[in-house]
Amino acid sequence: MTVPGSQHAARPRPTGRLWAAVAFALALVGTAATAIALAAPDTPPSAPAASDPPPPLPEGATALPPPTVTAVPAAASICGLPDVLAGLAAGDDGAVIAASGGAFAFRQAIAAGSAPCIPLADPAHVWVVVNKQRPCDPIDFSPSGLGLPAGVRNLGDTELRVDAGADLAQLLAASATAGAGEVGLDSGFRSFSMQRSTYNAQVRARGVAGADLISARPGFSEHQTGLAADVVACAGGCGSIEEFAATAQGAWIAAHAWEHGWIVRYEDGQTPVTGYQPEPWHLRYVGRELARAYHDGGFRTLEEFFGLPAAPGYAP
Ligand code: DAL
Ligand code: ZN
Repeated sequence: MTVPGSQHAARPRPTGRLWAAVAFALALVGTAATAIALAAPDTPPSAPAASDPPPPLPEGATALPPPTVTAVPAAASICGLPDVLAGLAAGDDGAVIAASGGAFAFRQAIAAGSAPCIPLADPAHVWVVVNKQRPCDPIDFSPSGLGLPAGVRNLGDTELRVDAGADLAQLLAASATAGAGEVGLDSGFRSFSMQRSTYNAQVRARGVAGADLISARPGFSEHQTGLAADVVACAGGCGSIEEFAATAQGAWIAAHAWEHGWIVRYEDGQTPVTGYQPEPWHLRYVGRELARAYHDGGFRTLEEFFGLPAAPGYAP
């Protein structure tokens, strides 16, 4: 059940009829690329006369529907959009993101520094960024709407925010359905005082510098928002969080968590940004729209996603 040396599942290779579809799609892409190249401003002016017949399309292409072009508001304008402000007033994060023109436009506006109406530090929102430079506000914040996620193997009877728990249940069920294996929830919401106990235990074991690489100080943990989940692989019994990356479940979750609104928050190679060693087991819920944009954009940290400074250490 191990996947040596990789946290990412290999992409399946297309076969048979699928290859034919891929070849057809490549032909279409080639046609589009040619059209774009011809229209590029640095190519010699050779536009066809209006009376020229259109070039022949590949067989079947005429049956394709015309592309849908959705207007995306300028990043600078999202705080001037009434539906964004209405979504904020209603506490409806999904509505805010949709009214912003979708997750990409939402993210772009924040990264550009042109969305001052979006409370990125408010831990009640799915987009909150908590790191060593951005504690929960208030420091002893406790989320409303916590609950035990239904249908999840829950090792410590640990709670999550209800929306996060519902999507975690779907993610874990999808892992089993895909044949990757069972995944259990090891740790979800941790209060300020619980995090203080966890962190202090790590300090006693490793000293402050060692503890700070693997455990957040109280008030600085995503677990305090109810939006973080540590998961483990189970096969009869369950393994430890440290063993998760080397399991089939770990590889599958790394590749598919985003499909259900979750991201792997502390990735390999990102310690200079996050301040933490890789934690392939620590998932963070950001909702399906933001998770898709995060995945599709190839982002590796929330700091990069929202254009925030790296947070490798605490303020002195
Ligand atoms: N282990 C992560 C960083 C936390 O304590 O929140
Ligand atoms: Zn965690």
